[in-house]
Formats: sequence, C-alpha cells, structure tokens
Amino acid sequence: MGREKDAAAALAAAAGMAGRYLEGIGERRVAPDAAALAGLVALDTPLPDRGMPATEVLALLDRAASPATMASAGPRYFGFVIGGAVPASLGAAVLSAAWDQNAGLAAMSPAAAAIEEIAARWILDLLGFPTDSGVGFTTGATMANLTALAAARHSELAAAGWDVNERGLFGAPEITVFVGEEVHASLLKALALLGLGRSRVRHLPVDGQGRIRATGLPRIEGPTILCLQAGNVNTGASDPFLPLTEWGREGEAWIHVDGAFGLWALAARGYARRLAGIEYADSWATDAHKWLNVPYDSGFAIVRDRASLHAAMNSTAAYLAAGEGRDGLAYAPEMSRRARGIEVWAAIREMGREGVADLVARCCSLAVRFAEGLAAAGCEVLNDVVLNQVLVAFGDDERTRRVIAAVQRDGTAWCGGTVWQGRAAMRISVSSWATTEEDVDLSLAAILKAALSAN
Ligand SMILES: Cc1ncc(COP(=O)(O)O)c(C=O)c1O
Repeated sequence: MGREKDAAAALAAAAGMAGRYLEGIGERRVAPDAAALAGLVALDTPLPDRGMPATEVLALLDRAASPATMASAGPRYFGFVIGGAVPASLGAAVLSAAWDQNAGLAAMSPAAAAIEEIAARWILDLLGFPTDSGVGFTTGATMANLTALAAARHSELAAAGWDVNERGLFGAPEITVFVGEEVHASLLKALALLGLGRSRVRHLPVDGQGRIRATGLPRIEGPTILCLQAGNVNTGASDPFLPLTEWGREGEAWIHVDGAFGLWALAARGYARRLAGIEYADSWATDAHKWLNVPYDSGFAIVRDRASLHAAMNSTAAYLAAGEGRDGLAYAPEMSRRARGIEVWAAIREMGREGVADLVARCCSLAVRFAEGLAAAGCEVLNDVVLNQVLVAFGDDERTRRVIAAVQRDGTAWCGGTVWQGRAAMRISVSSWATTEEDVDLSLAAILKAALSAN
C-alpha cells in the first residue's frame, strides 16, 4: 500500500501545483525574466547520493522551474505555431500517465489500442479523409511527414519492382521528389532521414504567399513523390491543390501534404473550401499539439493506402505476433511508445466537431483582429491573413528586429521573428483555445508601445 499511497500523494501534489500554475498563467509575464531563469540553479546540484521524498522533489521542481517556463500554455503566447492544451486533453495526459500504457501492441494495452482506433476514426471523419486510411500516431509533424513519406518511398519503389525494406536504397531506381520553394525545414529533414536527400529535391517556384505556382509544371517521369503544403509556417497560405493534385495524378506521383497546422482548416466549414483538391492526395501529415490543442508531443500521419503504411512500418519478431486489436507499431516508427492518441480522443470528445470548428475559426478571426489593429496603426502586414498567421514589419529590418526584441522583453505577449522572402518580420500565430479578443487587444497595445519605443 505504501508505494501506491506515495504515487497518489505525488499526483495530488502535482495536480495542486499544476492547477495553481495554470490559474495564474494569464497574469504573469509570458517569457520568464532573468531572475526566474536564474532560479533554475536550485535544480543543478551534483548527482545526489541520497534520494528525496517524491512530494519534496515536486515542490522543488515547482518552486524553481514553474516561474522559468515560457507561458506557452497561456493566452498570449503567439510564437512559432504553438497551441495550448484543452482541459480534457491535459487531464487525459495526467490520467494516462498514471496508466502508463504501452501503445505498441493491442496485447500490451487493449484500452490504448481501442481508444486510438476510435481517435483515428474521428480524425478521418473530422478532416474528411477516406475512412479506411491508415492513421499513425507520432510525436509531431516531423515524424508524421517521415512516416507518410516512408510509405510513399515504399510504394513508389515497389511499383518499380524494388523492395526498399529488404534492399535499401543502394542501386534502387531514382525517386524524383518535388517540393515548393517554401517547403518546411522539417519535411526536408524527413526526406534526408529517408535517404532521399535534402538538396537533390526539385524545388517548384512559389508566389508571394509561399504557394506553389501551378503553371509551367515539368513532366513527371518515373517514381515520383510530390510534396505539397497546407499552411505555410509564415503566411498560413496553402498550395492550390486542385491543379497540383491533377498534375501529380496524371504523372502517377505519390502526393503528400504537409499540413502541420493548416490541415485543421478542413475541420472548419468556411476554411475547408480553400483546400479543395487536398482530398486527392495519397498521404497527409499533421500535428495535434498545434491546432487540436493537446499537450506535447502529438501528431499523426494519414495514409490512404493502409497497406503501404503497414509495409513501410512493418517489424516482425516471434514475440510480436499480431493480435486482435490495433497494433500501434504497424502504423508508426516506434515500437514502444506512450498512448498519445488518448489525449487526441479526449480533446475531440470535449470539443466535438463543432468545438474543433469553432477553435479553428476563432483563432483565424483573432489573427484578422491582430492584422487590422496593426494595419490601422500604420504597421505593414506582409501576408494575406487567410488562416491564423500574421506577418508584420515595422519599417526596415533592423527596426523590425528591435520591435520584436522589445515585445519579448516587455512580457505581455510573446511573438517571434522570421525572414519572409528577404524581409525581417514579426510572426504572430494564434493557435490556442485560451486566447480571447481581450488578449489580442492587450497584446496589440504592448506591440504598438514596443514599436514606439523602437523609434
Ligand atoms: C508546415 C510545417 N510542417 C512541419 C512542422 C514540424 O512540426 P513538429 O515541430 O510538430 O515536428 C511545422 C512546425 O511548425 C510546420 O509548420
């Protein structure tokens, strides 16, 4: 009993601290100040010889590290593309951590297998993809891209009479890979990990929003993977899927879409129609930790031809005999892993179809509020605000960088920097269920004050 009691006490203590942390998150600085960061030193002792009671360990962690965290779970964090975590998904993460299930095989956790199967079905329904597609739960979009592209590589080479699982890429038929010039760095990383190379890919020209131009497209010959994008990480713009998928299908290419956050536009009626044609792709990658607002780390690969996904992810050993339920290891690279699909299930169960649509639409209209407020104050919005991303410049590059640094120092909100087609810009990503109009107005005021101070 003693040990179970210790675990229960540790969980109760952690829940108390976590609850207090979240209750205060809207009032504190978004970025920790220097004093808070300096407090981390309390954790940095020589390797302890003796242990410490679990509740004391947690109290130490809370005291030293909570103030040093970036308040990205709060309402005024607009950096990168970072979503919050809706309450049920956060609670499910805690509960499923207590369960400590291994989602590799149904035999290891029938509950995790069943819940992930349901979550997979709901995702396909929410996003409107074929109901018999394979869905692999991954750590994020990088691994989702890798997973889907492994299926693509397998399928394209199998069609050319080459079994890449058995023979590798040495001596294999060449695969042509097309990407847009504004491809996300993580997709190139996935291609590199798969032996397809970062720089041997063929870049297709893009327009001022980062969308591939659907004109003057080259002829497709031989095994080919065409990588498209839903939601450019800077502008939020998506490729014109109708003409590009038509081109890809005519050339019998495998068409993959990186939709780390942009894919969620499919869940919101008004935005889904802008992605028309995306349904003709063969695979799609997205994150749940971005716009579905589940805790890190969570993404998924969706592959129309489930057999190609299984062939690419296949691993066999006598003790890994396929069971009755869903064996997670047949859908994703890992064998043992936590059952991250449980949080996906919880988030969707909490919000329902309508709640997910509202989340997406609300973030998009808050992004427009940001853009309008900035433009009205004379700042230059560099992108068409079609989704949840806003790019803004405050004069020349150097001044823009000064404004970004001042916003980050001020602590009311947090926005990052980028370079968009040669110009420095501040990037605002509205991706959290927690953000309200009031948060946008407070943040706008802080940004405009920072802009004045940067004169
Ligand atoms: C378009 C796109 N693809 C891939 C990724 C990588 O996602 P993750 O960091 O979850 O691996 C991102 C992250 O911002 C992204 O915006």
